[in-house]
Amino acid sequence: MAKVSAKRKNKSVTVADIPHVGPGTPCGDWFRRYWVVVGIARDLYDIPQAVKVLSEALVLFRDEFGKLGLLGLHCPHRGTSLEYADIECGGIRCPYHGWLFDVSGQCLEMPAEPKDSKFPQKVKHLSYPVQEQGGLIFAYMGPDRDDPPPLPKYGPLVDRGSQWQIEPVRHADYNWFNFFENSADPAHVCILHRHAGYGQQSWGNQFFSYTEMPHFEFVEMDYGMKVVMTKPGPKPGTEFVDEMSLALPSIVQVGDTEFVHAKMDAAALIEEGSQCEHWMFVTPNDDEHFMLFTADNYKGPEANFFEKLKALREKEAPVQEVMPYDKRQFMPYKGNIRKEDLMTQGTQGLLGERSEQLSVSDRGVIKFRKIVVDAIETGLHGGRPKGMVDKKQATEIYRLDTRVGVRVIIKN
Ligand code: FES
Ligand SMILES: [Fe+2]
Repeated sequence: MAKVSAKRKNKSVTVADIPHVGPGTPCGDWFRRYWVVVGIARDLYDIPQAVKVLSEALVLFRDEFGKLGLLGLHCPHRGTSLEYADIECGGIRCPYHGWLFDVSGQCLEMPAEPKDSKFPQKVKHLSYPVQEQGGLIFAYMGPDRDDPPPLPKYGPLVDRGSQWQIEPVRHADYNWFNFFENSADPAHVCILHRHAGYGQQSWGNQFFSYTEMPHFEFVEMDYGMKVVMTKPGPKPGTEFVDEMSLALPSIVQVGDTEFVHAKMDAAALIEEGSQCEHWMFVTPNDDEHFMLFTADNYKGPEANFFEKLKALREKEAPVQEVMPYDKRQFMPYKGNIRKEDLMTQGTQGLLGERSEQLSVSDRGVIKFRKIVVDAIETGLHGGRPKGMVDKKQATEIYRLDTRVGVRVIIKN
């Protein structure tokens, strides 16, 4: 269980703590209570892979028997990078003096030491438990490494429809929380993204408007927060609904992929609602970089759904004309949702360092920051923070129900 130093106990966590994930920081300690995604199984070959996670330099590998290992990147002998190590003899062997480590970090051999040396037994390199689930590799970097909490059974990874995919990892060079809290800010969808998918097809035209915003609600959930956007529906007593979920520590589920990117017939979709799960797992490399791992799961009737989606996404090129004198870094960006997000989030600076003037339409962001700060406090004091699964829930499938479609308005 995480210990809180007396000094820390009296100091309250603030939103300025959220972006910082290094060891010993409040947010870093909190993040380490959960399993985090550190790689994609299909991208891990028979060579070690350097990866920075939560400001720690690590090396991910499979030993020759297929067992996954995640060790400190630098050899504990004299620091050479184990990214260049050889995978052999039941572990990973540093190329400099041949120290050999198994996936638990235990040193097995030191070829240059006397044959009867007991020193190898005494050297245990930094190692973290690793598990694979549905094509993603998760690590637990927290305090209970000998008896870690269960890895949640994430819906789109363990209960797959007939069609699923893990998208290529995306890398970004700004703070992880700028990305994460963006989903608590639905106003940006109608404004920033009006150049892209929205407003150019039937669902967007019905639902999103720069001048006539949907109604936004922000609902605190066991896992974090849900954003609910509604507009009057096609028949009296109905409403269009578009939801996004933010699950702690860093998962976003967006429900409207079929409507916005697949551009499927809205009339047909309205009957059934979305049948595509689109989960993004955010893993901070450090305070200035993060990785984004995306798992998609489709249970609807469309054949070859992801091939079609890919072809359509490729057509979503920015539509902006760029003049020869325009040397701005993110040009062109208008017309591609991912580029629009990248430009806006990548130029914000760090939460807590930038100055802000929050308004009524930021109430989702304000609420979400409070949920995260409360979760950090809970974790810091040894409690179970939101979104963390305990042993009693280990067999349950972890779901984020994120509805998109039309529903009958229920009057309370
Ligand atoms: S630095 Fe790795 S074995 Fe010497
Ligand atoms: Fe966005």
